[in-house]
Order: sequence, then C-alpha cells, then structure tokens
Amino acid sequence: MEKLVIRGGSPLKGKVTISGAKNAAVAILPAVILADAPCILENVPKISDVSAIIEIMRSMGALIIETAPHTLRIDATGIRTHEILHEEARRMRASYYFLGVMLSKFGKASVALPGGCDLGARPIDQHLKAFAAMGCRNVVDRGMVFCDAGERPKGAHVFFDIVSVGATINAMLAAVKADGLTVLENVAKEPHVVDVANFLNMMGADIRGAGTDVIKIRGVRKLRGVDYSIVPDQIEAGTFITAAVATGGDVIVDNIIPKHLETIIARIREVGGNVVVDEESVHVRRRGPLCATSVRTMPYPGFPTDMVPQFSILLAMAEGTSVIHEGIWSNRFRYADELRRMGAEITVDGKLAVFNGVEKLKACPVVSTDLRAGAAMVIAGLSADGITEVGNLGHIDRGYEDLVGKMKGLGADIERVNIPDDPEDIFLKAE
Ligand code: EPU
Repeated sequence: MEKLVIRGGSPLKGKVTISGAKNAAVAILPAVILADAPCILENVPKISDVSAIIEIMRSMGALIIETAPHTLRIDATGIRTHEILHEEARRMRASYYFLGVMLSKFGKASVALPGGCDLGARPIDQHLKAFAAMGCRNVVDRGMVFCDAGERPKGAHVFFDIVSVGATINAMLAAVKADGLTVLENVAKEPHVVDVANFLNMMGADIRGAGTDVIKIRGVRKLRGVDYSIVPDQIEAGTFITAAVATGGDVIVDNIIPKHLETIIARIREVGGNVVVDEESVHVRRRGPLCATSVRTMPYPGFPTDMVPQFSILLAMAEGTSVIHEGIWSNRFRYADELRRMGAEITVDGKLAVFNGVEKLKACPVVSTDLRAGAAMVIAGLSADGITEVGNLGHIDRGYEDLVGKMKGLGADIERVNIPDDPEDIFLKAE
C-alpha cells in the first residue's frame, strides 16, 4: 500500500505540461481494432486506465509497443475474437467501448460488464438502446453483455433519452462500418467525443456533426491505419488551474486547448483566479481572497462534473456560502466526509452541496474516494498548513499521469511513500 505525504502551505510556481486526455484515449485505443493496418498513437497518457486497455488488447492478440515516450504502435490486425472476459474489463468503465468496436468489426460482441468509479448508478441502457436500433440483439446475463447484430449493424435513427458520453461514442463506434446511414440525436459534445470522431474520420470513416447535438455516420467498408495525436486532457488541465489558485500560486498550464476550458476558466475567474489565456497555455494566479459562487454541472459545454471535487476545495475556502448542484451523478459528493475532516463546512443533500467557506483547511490523513476526489484531496493538502496524508492512490493513478512528479515540478512538497502492510514489517521498523 502507498500513500501521499504532503507538506502544504506553499504556493505552486512554474510550468506544468498536460498529458493526453484519458477519456479520449480509452476510446481511441480500442477503436484501433477497426483499422486494417497498424496505427501510431501519440500523446497517450501513462495512466493505469490506459494500461488496463492495453493489457486487454494484448490478451486479445494485439501487438503494442512504445516507440517513443507517449507514442504507441498498435497492430490489432491479428485480433480474431469478439469476446472479452478479461478481469480488467470488469474494473474499468471504458471497457464498454469494446462492445461498439466488436460489433463494427465482427457483428457481435461479448464483454464483461464495466466497473469504474462509484459515482452512483451507471447503467448502459442508452448504449444498448442504440445497438438495438441498429438491429442488434442484446442479452445481459451473469455479469456479461452479449450483443449480436448478425453480419453487421444496420444504419438507424437513434434519439438518446439522456446525454451520455459513453453511449454517444459507443453508438458512433458501432455505426462506423454499419450498412447505411445512422443518425444520433441528443448526443454528448465533449472534446473527447469529437476527438474519437476525428480519429475515425482520419481512418476513413464518414462521421459528420461531432461536437453538435446531431451526429450522422455513413457506414464504410474499410478503415486504414493512421498516425494520430490524442487531445490534451481538459480535466487534468482544470485540476492544475484549480491547484494554482487554491495555493495562491503562479503557474503556466501548458499543452492545452483553451477552447475546451472556457467554462472552467470562467468559473475560476469568478472565484478569484486571474487567468491569462495564450494559444496553447494559460497563466494562472490568485487575484485576492476567494469568493463564493454557485455552480451547476452539465454536459459539455457546461461546467464538467469531473471538476466538482477539485473546485470544491476553492469553495471550501471561499468567503461566504457556495452551492454546487450536481447534474450528472447521484453520488458525486462521497469526498465530503474527507474534506470535513480537514475542517471544511459542507452540507450534502443528494445532488446538492452547500459550502460555508472557512479561512484555512487543516492538514490531516484522508483517502481518495474516487479519481477526481483523489486529486481534490491533493489540492486540499497543498493548501493546508501542516502534513496531509492521502491514501487509496489507485484511484488517482487511473487518470492522472505522474501527479506527484508534476506537482513537485511546481515546487510542491509531496512524496509517495510505502505503507508496510505486513505487521512483521511494522514491528521491524519499530525496533
Ligand atoms: N446514463 C444512463 N444510461 C446510460 C448511460 C449513462 O442513464 O446508458 C446516465 C449516467 O448514469 C449519468 C449520465 O447518464 O447519470 C451521464 O453518463 P455518461 O454516460 O455521460 O458517463 P460515462 O460515459 O459513463 C464519462 C466519463 C466520466 C464522466 C462522464 C460525464 C469516460 C470513460 N468516463 O462517463 O469520467 O464523469 O462521462 O461527463 O469517458 C472521470 O474521468 O473521472 C469520469 C468519471
């Protein structure tokens, strides 16, 4: 077991480079299976969710090598199976993208039901609704999803009941080699949705409208191998911007697409951040005391749910009363107890959290309850005077590449240390 030991209280200073987007990478990697030749993927983030996808793809017969830092050569042309029983598939949410990919490639798919962060109910009914409209028979049984579309899916008109990132991407993947035209309405517009569409189009797909409410996909027979660079991670960027403001720092967040961060930057300015936007970077400082605000999370271009825990740290220290209304997940505020241990005054009622700002957070041992909550605990620890320990690091590793190294690069006093879990070790150390 490992934990982070953070000696907080100093402002972050310097420049940090943002990695490739997790939520684009976990869809684009499986999508490589659709290419008739090897692909080169650049700007692939080194995070454990990506390693899990790589492991699954290797177990299926893909040849994957790192040709340069963050660059993978993937030859998935030898994959002959439409079945994924791999234990890793159960652990991560994004394994559902193998459903759309296998349907496109083989007309059928069997995938272990996805896991992921516990943010509330995570059904896949909208994914299955789209597959069913494309002529697919879906059966969910004993932890597995079985989909059968015969030879290949058929073009269809799908109107999603809710806006879902996963269902939008999965339907796009299933439709890319389908017979005829598929029209998807009420789709997600997140940057990673657009990135997956761009990748598929570069391979020869015919997808129009990604980034708007309606996506039209005309099925094609063949997709070629390409060289593609994954977009920067909007949420990792937002996390560092928030950390800079929380610690009263002076940080350049580099390798970003500022357009993807517009809502986050607007909110950061509202609570007291000074953000100067350049072409591929932002310069972030604190303007003065933090101010209270109200936020409602919504699908892109709204304020992202995946920034709620990190942004909460600012509200926990802002003068006055702030409110977050979570619009996506039913269980987003699991980290509230941890933050209360650090002296934050938060009341949670379902999807609503009310913050009464305190002047300072107090350092103490906490755990990460999910990926973004883990990042939030790190920001809280960096903002508090004294030593904060953060446990349960597996969550953070899923989605942040070298968070400790990047924070250290900004002058943070943060170490990753081993906690001996064998009682014998503990006694030996005590001698
Ligand atoms: N939903 C349904 N039925 C479905 C699919 C979703 O009811 O078939 C509901 C969900 O329960 C939720 C809402 O729709 O209330 C939105 O879910 P969505 O499908 O958009 O989420 P997701 O695709 O499972 C992705 C990200 C999450 C991020 C959400 C929302 C990936 C791998 N994950 O999840 O990212 O919170 O979109 O933006 O892309 C994270 O990175 O920390 C993370 C949790």
